[in-house]
Amino acid sequence: MSGQNKTLGEFIIENQTAFKYTTGELTRLLNSIRLAAKVVNHEVNKAGLVDIIGAAGDVNIQGEDQQKLDVYANDIFIQTLKKRNIVCGIASEEEDDFISINSQDSNHQNKYVVLIDPLDGSSNIDVNVSVGTIFSVYRRITPVGSPVTIEDFLQEGHQQVAAGYIVYGTSTMLVYTTGAGVNGFTLNPAIGTFYLSHPDMSFPEDGNIYSCNEGNYIHFPQGIKDYIKYCQMEEGDRPYTSRYIGSLVSDFHRNMIKGGIYLYPKSSKNSKGKLRLLYECNPMAFLAEQANGKASDGFTRIMDIKPTELHERVPFICGSKNMVEKAEEFERNA
Ligand code: AHG
Ligand code: MN
Ligand code: MN
Ligand code: MN
Repeated sequence: MSGQNKTLGEFIIENQTAFKYTTGELTRLLNSIRLAAKVVNHEVNKAGLVDIIGAAGDVNIQGEDQQKLDVYANDIFIQTLKKRNIVCGIASEEEDDFISINSQDSNHQNKYVVLIDPLDGSSNIDVNVSVGTIFSVYRRITPVGSPVTIEDFLQEGHQQVAAGYIVYGTSTMLVYTTGAGVNGFTLNPAIGTFYLSHPDMSFPEDGNIYSCNEGNYIHFPQGIKDYIKYCQMEEGDRPYTSRYIGSLVSDFHRNMIKGGIYLYPKSSKNSKGKLRLLYECNPMAFLAEQANGKASDGFTRIMDIKPTELHERVPFICGSKNMVEKAEEFERNA
């Protein structure tokens, strides 16, 4: 990566004036996420060398066995934001409840809450396959000067002010939006700097990749079964290619670059699907729409769903616009 490319730090500062709330708080928040991403990246890269793979021994609120890196990444992101006293609250996939942040200095004056999936795709850690981090940022809706409440976290996705992910892949990238398009930055690990490598990222309108865990096919709703059969049918540019990593971040990233659709539907075993609305679906939906893609639960726009609880799950269909619309058509007509 050439030193002539813009760095993430430079990009954040240049774009802060374009952002409608110019208090500098969002800039400091994005800079803290950038820092935490580098720390987690350093640890992820050592997996296999030091004792950080495997289960941590606890079960999280989602009913999943926490991996050591789930816990590590969760701690790093929370501590980085907490110590800098930048946000007024954090909610995480790995925490039972939201965390209210305050100090004598801030006196509940901070305006933003962050929701985070600290380590996405944690089942892939032990086998050296790409994992990620997903984050989502809202302005609080309760008045400054008071502690945050659950209402600050249960906002509809379209109220997000920023969202993004880090993919710890063959190279490490940070991709984010503040509502003015999507930009991707690649980490030069030798000097610890993210450079703008993917300006104005955009889903192709059509694609030929479908990503879903087909092992669950038998449990899928009829509309999804019909859509999958459609993807496999010999006609025009079909059959499509099937690619499923099992890390939402990595599957999304590939589909955004190449054109494709990601599906995690509900099933007869999992009546609301698996993915979490607040930590996974809303931030990915914001990125998708900002990159000319689309995200839906099969019937409704993801970002229009009113959350009712922190760890709520929803069916998730996301990717190239025409492909998502086709899947919705199958859902409607089933
Ligand atoms: P997490 O590791 O944060 O719990 O998320 C796992 C999610 C998502 O990343 C992935 O797309 C999906 O679960 C994979 O689920 P299956 O193993 O059921 O396919
Ligand atoms: Mn998990
Ligand atoms: Mn996840
Ligand atoms: Mn996770």
